[in-house]
Amino acid sequence: IRSRSSSAASRPHLLRRAYGSESVPERKVAVLGAAGGIGQPLALLMKLNPLVSQLALYDIAGTPGVAADVGHINTRSEVAGYVGEEQLGQALEGSDVVIIPAGVPRKPGMTRDDLFNINAGIVKSLCTAIAKYCPNAVVNMISNPVNSTVPIAAEVFKKAGTYNEKKLFGVTTLDVVRAKTFYAGKAKVPVEEVNVPVVGGHAGITILPLFSQAVPKANLADEDIKALTKRTQDGGTEVVEAKAGKGSATLSMAYAGALFADACLKGLNGVPDVVECSFVQSSIITELPFFASKVKLGKNGVEEVLELGPMSDYEKQGLEILIPELKASIEKGIKFANQ
Ligand code: NAI
Repeated sequence: IRSRSSSAASRPHLLRRAYGSESVPERKVAVLGAAGGIGQPLALLMKLNPLVSQLALYDIAGTPGVAADVGHINTRSEVAGYVGEEQLGQALEGSDVVIIPAGVPRKPGMTRDDLFNINAGIVKSLCTAIAKYCPNAVVNMISNPVNSTVPIAAEVFKKAGTYNEKKLFGVTTLDVVRAKTFYAGKAKVPVEEVNVPVVGGHAGITILPLFSQAVPKANLADEDIKALTKRTQDGGTEVVEAKAGKGSATLSMAYAGALFADACLKGLNGVPDVVECSFVQSSIITELPFFASKVKLGKNGVEEVLELGPMSDYEKQGLEILIPELKASIEKGIKFANQ
């Protein structure tokens, strides 16, 4: 898996070095919720990633089977399954990156916020364990509602005295993946050349794709841009409805989660110019404490939160209307963590 927006693609020597095992550092990745719809294909994709040397698969049930299965794949990493809370510490110890797709997914008619009551508690307890067993790990939060679970994680880490804002990421990569796919289809350009930043948050109108910055450039009509924006915002719901009660996006999410974790690993390993969109602590963009934007990844996690760049009037309007909703979701997370 290669991150298109990283310059690794344009630096063949780095890419080659990254794929020759001697020069690649040891990296442990833990997946929490590894037996789930996202967790299983994500475990598979992380097993295929040559930057990973140890893969810890944790869930409340089912991980011995997933680990035995994935562990037979003849790639670099050693795989271990951990099941139940008493094994969580072992799963986390020594982790460089912790990916969290634990929790319940949406059913038709539900918003991401409807998941809050169950997932907030799960995230809180998992983050309490992260603070204890691997306080320096980079955390990739997939569990929804991301707009609230990331602030919850931050509060838990603050209370434990381990919070490092550079190492906490809400995974919004699937919004970028969708925006790229939908744009390529509409603009009739090769999808592998497409790049589109997606900013804001990760729910409904808080998802703001910046198609005015999309490359390759295409002269799409205003109504096409509006339709693409709406489809990107409703991409998750499209899958939830098509699955008709069997959950939300799992395969495309696993792909997106693997892509983002790979970018984090590259950053940790010192690969230059790795840039991905993510929901992070943010002070330069809006008055909100968390915001998704392009982020440069480095040896310590976030190296730089990048500015939004020039936006169309339509996007500026989208930014204005998303702020109150995103603010409320952030505050809801903070309040939950502190009660
Ligand atoms: P799923 O129900 O198939 O799997 C969730 C897994 O989490 C299950 O295996 C369950 O046993 C496990 N789990 C529950 N409590 C746990 C705990 N305390 N510790 C460890 N594991 C625990 O759900 P699915 O489809 O994999 O979705 C997982 C989450 O990802 C949901 O919250 C969903 O909304 C979110 N999601 C996020 C997306 C994003 O773009 N950020 C996209 C799609 C889904």
